Amino acid sequence: MPTFRVIGAGRAGQALQRALGAAGWEALATVHHGDDVSTAASGCDLLVIAVPDADVASVAASVTPSPSIVVVHLAGSLGTGVLATHPRRGVLHPVVALPEPAEGARRLAAGAIFAISGDPLVADVVSALGGAAVEVADRDRAHHHAAATIASNHTVALLATVGRAAAVAGVPLRAYLGLARDAVDLVATHGPAAALTGPVARGDWSTVASHLAALSDADRPPYLALAAEAARLAGRDLGRGLISESSSADGPEVVHERDAFRKRLDQIRGAGLTVGLVPTMGALHEGHAALIRQAAAECDVVAVTVFVNPLQFDRPDDLAAYPRTLETDVLEAAAAGARILFAPSVSEMFGSGAAATVHVEGLADRLEGAARPGHFDGVATIVTKLFALAGPCRAYFGEKDFQQVAVVRRLTADLDLPVDVVACPTVRAHDGLALSSRNALLTEEQRQIAPALPHALRMGSLLIAEGERDPDAVRSRVISELEREPALRIDSVDVVDAATLAPPTAVTTEWRILAAVFCGATRIIDNVGAAV
Ligand code: PAJ
Repeated sequence: MPTFRVIGAGRAGQALQRALGAAGWEALATVHHGDDVSTAASGCDLLVIAVPDADVASVAASVTPSPSIVVVHLAGSLGTGVLATHPRRGVLHPVVALPEPAEGARRLAAGAIFAISGDPLVADVVSALGGAAVEVADRDRAHHHAAATIASNHTVALLATVGRAAAVAGVPLRAYLGLARDAVDLVATHGPAAALTGPVARGDWSTVASHLAALSDADRPPYLALAAEAARLAGRDLGRGLISESSSADGPEVVHERDAFRKRLDQIRGAGLTVGLVPTMGALHEGHAALIRQAAAECDVVAVTVFVNPLQFDRPDDLAAYPRTLETDVLEAAAAGARILFAPSVSEMFGSGAAATVHVEGLADRLEGAARPGHFDGVATIVTKLFALAGPCRAYFGEKDFQQVAVVRRLTADLDLPVDVVACPTVRAHDGLALSSRNALLTEEQRQIAPALPHALRMGSLLIAEGERDPDAVRSRVISELEREPALRIDSVDVVDAATLAPPTAVTTEWRILAAVFCGATRIIDNVGAAV
């Protein structure tokens, strides 16, 4: 009869000692983990290293190698590499839970499955125990061990979530354990796809939505992750199912509370969908619609925010005059492909105050920021809040507000926000005027005059295209074009490097001309680019 010795007197070592001994192999005295193991291999055919995974390599290296002895370990996560000093080696991982030694020995001898590799003697051990062997190559060990961990430990964790939901309903956990056992039996006989029943398998999304609404913040993510997995198994799309449940073709879901907005987007991401965010101040027009359409083309779900942010207005009369048209905004947003519209009140957004604000040094105080002190701090603060509520997403901004895009990109990078900022080209009316919510404030006459602004900017960019490299000359040209229209009052004209918003230098590859004019009491802004 072959002889064997176990190093380590833990549950696995003791269980194997008993089971293999009972199967007729001769057991030599166990060497305890921590004792001198150098001569442990002498006199036996098989040496079993049954110490914690992290110690297997060092224990194996301390055993004097011998060409006639097979050294194995029981760790599911390790291959044969950790036994490299031994010419004959193998892995004997029992794929079975081993509680205390007597019960463990019984399980090892009751037709257990072993994940093995290495020396042929390992297969002899499995047949002596009456078990079944599956070969797992070293390179497949991590997958094998992940599967074992999910089957064993994660199932336990899953049942703990069952217990939590059950407790809220006042039902003991054991009431559901029969279902769990049946599920295992069904998978064993029919395979996972055929074993699946329940609301996800049926595509009963309203039931799934009611579960999600009821579950706690802690239990919702595991429920969603597994519902998404169940949906894949059933050939269904959980994300689309849940979205169609919450919004109809003729209108997006309108959310007014921060918490509800955050939860909704978390839920959407949890279902495996991507989020596109389009922050606006409402009074939606084709410029906004273009952002929403681009977001809808690139993301699974588009959320539009409508909030007239008081922090970014430097004049109270401007804030008071800002157009507010929520009802039509909802329709516009839906038509462009938005699924969610977040429209909080000022107290909902700033109920806790605005003592903490975001300032983007260097970018916030120049150009438009110099003309409107505090404006970009207000923009940066609200955008940061919206990003914090929305979570990981792609966020769409218009180049119409060129400096705003630069401020938002910078705060996103510097604060490590999990958002991809996407800049979209300016949408213009047929006469060149950039679409803007403020255009609604222009009289008919002023509306006729306003296109002089984009016209003057185009003249400036043509000059650059013709080879002009003096920013002052470009600026003068734009100003003289604007001055041809006496009803416009020039507020600012700047010619800058598009990347830095500082004056162009010899290495500048993209110039940008930005201008602001008053048309009556309404201030309109625009900008154009020019490559050099
Ligand atoms: P608002 O002026 O409503 O603009 C919302 C978004 O639409 C901005 O990214 C803006 O650049 C873009 N946009 C406006 N007119 C556009 C046009 N003609 N073509 C392309 N894009 C256009 O900008 C704001 O609101 C706010 O500052 C905000 C970012 C929401 C923060 O409060």
